[in-house]
Amino acid sequence: MSDQVLPSTSPEALLSAVLKSNANTANPRLKQILEIGIRHLHAFALEADITPAELEVGLDFLVAIGQASGPKKHEGILLADILGLATLVQLNDARKAMEAGGTEPALIGPFWRANQPERKNGERISTDDTPGPRLRVTGQVLSLDGTPLAGARVETWQASPKGLYENQDESQPRMNLRGRFVTDEQGNFSFESVRPAGYPVPVDGPCGELLAAQQRHTMRPAHLHFLVVAPGHKVLATQFFDADDPHAYDDVVFGAVGSLLRHFEPDGDGGFTLDVKLRMEPGETRVPKCPIP
Ligand code: BEZ
Ligand code: FE
Repeated sequence: MSDQVLPSTSPEALLSAVLKSNANTANPRLKQILEIGIRHLHAFALEADITPAELEVGLDFLVAIGQASGPKKHEGILLADILGLATLVQLNDARKAMEAGGTEPALIGPFWRANQPERKNGERISTDDTPGPRLRVTGQVLSLDGTPLAGARVETWQASPKGLYENQDESQPRMNLRGRFVTDEQGNFSFESVRPAGYPVPVDGPCGELLAAQQRHTMRPAHLHFLVVAPGHKVLATQFFDADDPHAYDDVVFGAVGSLLRHFEPDGDGGFTLDVKLRMEPGETRVPKCPIP
């Protein structure tokens, strides 16, 4: 008879066996993430008393997230967004910078495009026939100590006054309401646009089903996206939100945080103005992966 002891069937012994199986993971950070992830996953399954049938539903949901994704759509990003995970990770990463006066980050979302058109400061990012109230945006990019950052790349993108990004809307020309600017010697940039409207997140995939199951609304408050790349600084992805939007305090993806809400100021001529400061944290410049071409 073998003198080997049968493994125990207790959850504790199972967890310990799974953690032991991770012991030889070569990459130390991956090893740490797996270890913590395995512990939380086991605790979650026990606390929620997950049944085999429920596990099947959950795994099918993950498969559906993958199947709904492709070169033009990233359902995984949307899942992280509607669960608040993207906002949590960004805010945690920026905690120290925010304590030092850095601009709060906000999620990139699925609509940033590679190769947005390069434009000169002061230019329009909307075509002349884009309907809606005019919006003039001015901004300055600074380091945390207040030094203006010349030569920073400022990418911006926004939805139309109908609440649609150009790639969702056949009536808009390609790359409408998108631009890439470079800051001047004082770190300033500026452009003309139209006032964006709020919009629903895409609900044609499994994330839409999840939102419906939770009986949640699907709206984001009106906003403009910014992604700023300055040498010697961490890349800043953020958004500024229209504080007068009905969903300003109720963003479906939890991105609208207090310091990013702004009143678009009337310019006295039917249009509006928005002035923003973008305070960047010194550090390694890592440009995030662009979700769509
Ligand atoms: C966006 O702001 O573009 C966005 C963010 C999360 C989900 C959908 C859209
Ligand atoms: Fe957006």
